[in-house]
Amino acid sequence: MIWTVFLLVHAVLLYFILTHRTRSKSEPPLDKGVIPWLGHALEFGKDASKFLNRMKLKHGDIFTVRAAGRYVTVLLDPHSYDAVINDPESLDFTRYARVLMERIFSLRLPHHQPNTAKAMMRKHFMGVNLTTLNGTMSRHLRALLTAEMPPNQKHWKDEGLFNFSYSLLFKAGYLVLFGGEQNNNNSPDPSSVYEEYKKFDGLLTKLARGTLKPEEKRTAHRVQQRLWDLLAPAGLTEDSGSSLWLHGYRQLLKEEGADVDAQIKALLMQLWATQGNVGPAAFWLLGYLLTNPEALIAVKKEFSHVSQAAAAAASETPLMDTPVVTPVFDSALEEAMRLTAAPFITREVVQDKTIHLSDGHEYLLRKGDRVCLFPFISPQMDPEIHREPQTFKYDRFLNDDGSAKSAFYKRGRRVKYSSMPFGAGTNGCVGKKFAIHTIREFVYLMLTHYDLQLCDPNAQMPEVNASRYGFGMLQPEGDLRFRYKPRLTHKSFS
Ligand code: HEM
Ligand SMILES: *[C@@H]1O[C@H](CO)[C@@H](O)[C@H](O)[C@H]1NC(C)=O
Ligand SMILES: *[C@@H]1O[C@H](CO)[C@@H](O)[C@H](O)[C@H]1NC(C)=O
Ligand SMILES: *[C@@H]1O[C@H](CO)[C@@H](O)[C@H](O)[C@H]1NC(C)=O
Ligand SMILES: *[C@@H]1O[C@H](CO)[C@@H](O)[C@H](O)[C@H]1NC(C)=O
Repeated sequence: MIWTVFLLVHAVLLYFILTHRTRSKSEPPLDKGVIPWLGHALEFGKDASKFLNRMKLKHGDIFTVRAAGRYVTVLLDPHSYDAVINDPESLDFTRYARVLMERIFSLRLPHHQPNTAKAMMRKHFMGVNLTTLNGTMSRHLRALLTAEMPPNQKHWKDEGLFNFSYSLLFKAGYLVLFGGEQNNNNSPDPSSVYEEYKKFDGLLTKLARGTLKPEEKRTAHRVQQRLWDLLAPAGLTEDSGSSLWLHGYRQLLKEEGADVDAQIKALLMQLWATQGNVGPAAFWLLGYLLTNPEALIAVKKEFSHVSQAAAAAASETPLMDTPVVTPVFDSALEEAMRLTAAPFITREVVQDKTIHLSDGHEYLLRKGDRVCLFPFISPQMDPEIHREPQTFKYDRFLNDDGSAKSAFYKRGRRVKYSSMPFGAGTNGCVGKKFAIHTIREFVYLMLTHYDLQLCDPNAQMPEVNASRYGFGMLQPEGDLRFRYKPRLTHKSFS
């Protein structure tokens, strides 16, 4: 009898220990939320930025929250980010990436070697290979814009700026990396790929969180299937027009033993990684320029110097020939992305680790937990680093002498990262330079070859869709209506 009671008490205790985790002194503050198991998952998913700001006020720069059964330690002190980014031994990138791969893309690559894949990708997005990609991108952008709006068109055309930027850049990026040449009868029409992709994109956050309703689940599967069908031929041969990069990627998957099904699912993942952010980023930049006349004038002025110099040199591709510096544009882009790039940087703790923060404190990170950085809150929207962080200031990243500014401070110390739209470290975005080239070329063409105006001159930027925090570039709720027509001074592209 006594033994039974003793065992029961132990069983109950064990249950509490396992499910009712308590904080030890050496660990970050723990906030489990009131709902068992789920914890803070709902609030997290609804508006992660708001939720994490609330936690930051309550607990400071480091804390652990429970969300859907997992414990996530959130770190918001940019001075301490390198302790997370540079420790792949204890803080593993690939495990969580694999979880997302399966949830979003139904993709399993058991023999995948992320480092080999990454090395191969880097090679393709640098040096002469990047020059080729830059050039192909410029060509497609010009062709698509001309098709959208012939140079002899005299009337204004109304569009939603987000839809316009996203669809145009998606189609261009798809043609460069996946689809070969336009009007090639063997490749799917980029517009139909975009239409399907948009549907998939709308369900992506719910796929990642596993919160699809039954009917959304059916839609998601249908859309996935259609995209798989459209992507199936991409990268199969070197001469079908798809890029060397895609062909190399597919070859790599084959060598790793991935079957055709898995290869195609992996292509959809790459479509997302390469096309999901550029269009939205270009939208925010153009939107901020159109709603900030002073900024628009400054960028236009810089671009008109570029096009005059190119005209003097009889150049066809002004931003390509010699390295053209555009510090005003660069600053405006950095500023637009500071306000609207909101990826999580997530790692899984694979062995207990003591993390040393810049303020001298030390905390124990528990094996099996996740660690998450959210640079959007700090450095990007941190009022100590960027004054009036909510305001778009096109010259925020410029020094008085017009050169690029990189010195920003928090608690008297210079921060290594003043904005992190592309992540950082070895897992940072491999396509960063190519993305910047693409956006610069697109904005250059729009501002030098077209007259643009807002349909409502007093329109403000739309609100952001708060459910997308954590997934790269934010997207607007609704759109910003604008109109455009060819500028009279330009008869054709130059
Ligand atoms: C504005 C545009 C873009 C933004 C904001 C962006 C941002 C990011 C971020 C935040 C990551 C994850 C880094 C991490 O987990 O620490 C990433 C990864 C990646 N990006 Fe980009 N990206 C952009 C455009 C592109 C483009 C144009 C390409 C290729 C053409 C590209 C290729 C990739 C790839 C392949 C990865 C995965 C790297 C890996 O295997 O871990 N991105 N990007
Ligand atoms: C360009 O890509 C090819 C593979 O297609 C690769 O062999 C070569 O090393 C890359 N070039 C550079 C400069 O990285
Ligand atoms: C989105 O933009 C494309 C290209 O500019 C256009 O053809 C399409 O009609 C637009 N769709 C919507 C819903 O506005
Ligand atoms: C916000 O984003 C989610 C996820 O992408 C999407 O399902 C929802 O329709 C978007 N809301 C609006 C108002 O655009
Ligand atoms: C491609 O464009 C980007 C952005 O304009 C630039 O940084 C890069 O140097 C260009 N690459 C080459 C090789 O032309």
